[in-house]
Amino acid sequence: MQVTDLPRSSLPGWLQAALAPPPEASRRCRTTVDALAGARVTVAGETLVNFAGNDYLGLAGDAALCAAATAGIARWGVGGTASHLLSGHTRAHQTAEEHAAAWLGFARALLFSSGYLANLAVVTALAGRGATLYADRLNHACLNDAARLSGARLRRYRHADLETLAAWLAADPAPQKWVLTDAVFSMDGDIARIDRLLDLCRRFDAMLLIDDAHGFGVLGGGRGTLHEPAFAPAVFRHGMADPRVVLMVTLGKAAGAAGALLLGAAPLIEAVVQRGRSYIYTTALPPSLAEAATASLQRLADADCDFRRAQLLAMAAELRQSLVRAGIPCGPLADAPDPGVAPALPPTPIVPVLLGSDARALAAAAALRRCGVWVPAIRPPTVPAGTARLRVSLSAGHGEGDLAKLINVLKELFCNG
Ligand SMILES: Cc1ncc(COP(=O)(O)O)c(C=O)c1O
Repeated sequence: MQVTDLPRSSLPGWLQAALAPPPEASRRCRTTVDALAGARVTVAGETLVNFAGNDYLGLAGDAALCAAATAGIARWGVGGTASHLLSGHTRAHQTAEEHAAAWLGFARALLFSSGYLANLAVVTALAGRGATLYADRLNHACLNDAARLSGARLRRYRHADLETLAAWLAADPAPQKWVLTDAVFSMDGDIARIDRLLDLCRRFDAMLLIDDAHGFGVLGGGRGTLHEPAFAPAVFRHGMADPRVVLMVTLGKAAGAAGALLLGAAPLIEAVVQRGRSYIYTTALPPSLAEAATASLQRLADADCDFRRAQLLAMAAELRQSLVRAGIPCGPLADAPDPGVAPALPPTPIVPVLLGSDARALAAAAALRRCGVWVPAIRPPTVPAGTARLRVSLSAGHGEGDLAKLINVLKELFCNG
């Protein structure tokens, strides 16, 4: 019997309010996927083109990754067995960390079983009472959760408003300051001005934590947003990142594997090992998935992935252009100052389509679904009130026909109000 099968009256009365379902338009629901094949999914016997995932390069089912995970299971078994500081840290984890640090230009890397845990660990281990954390308003929820859990003072600046951030940093007498930012904003698809953020951190002696969950694998030749030509000269010297920069990349999105990596200066990463509670008090990622992580890092650097990235970014540009030509409001949606940057930044595979109300976003998602296209409706609190949207997420696994179908259905929807 599940909890949902119990009559509500058999639970304590004081719990009733917390159990009351939210109104229909803001209720969340899970969709059970019965089969996955590249960018296609089967749901309730129906095949849908999936624009709702983050498998940007189509690597989640990749033969090299599957082979590494399978060989890893044969060698290590299925379970993670223990936390890293007990007996759970294997050669597979160590190899993935060393490979990532060398490839991404950081002194040291730490492998986590999720990006959420990595962000919690670094912020709570290194910032506490007495510190001020400055965060972009559109950052992912886990950076906000980490900030709140740390007990540090949190100040959230308007999206991309670096003038305000500079003024706040200048006026802050607190000795410990951190700036927290997504590199690619997960619901808008725009890119943070990493060069200017780092410049501010240097000027005001702050640290910079960058969450590159959505840029890693896709931008910067696969190495992520920091390696984009617009930012790399500011971030890297002789191939090594500025020690002020701490980077988190997830492995469950474009990398097609699982887990996440935290990268930074060696003493900083060691402090996370010593004090990061969400690193210390959790079972290690299963070693087979650490093997898959290393295979993924190698795969991301090969010529086939260069080709996939080029295809993906060409599709992203085509989708945006088609929507703009049709007068359909797609990113950047936030009321942000002009983020003009040179060299120009590429498009990203996240394309939001603004609908405003929750009900309109749900109706649009349902209409797309009836046409065999799965695009999720994203509603508050994931996005600010009044900015409910469709979040289109492209993958190199999509074909030209998939993109054309999506564009046609969206045009029909918008033309018919
Ligand atoms: C920007 C961003 N950061 C962090 C996370 C959390 O990463 P993970 O799914 O590995 O916990 C996500 C999404 O899931 C994300 O979109």
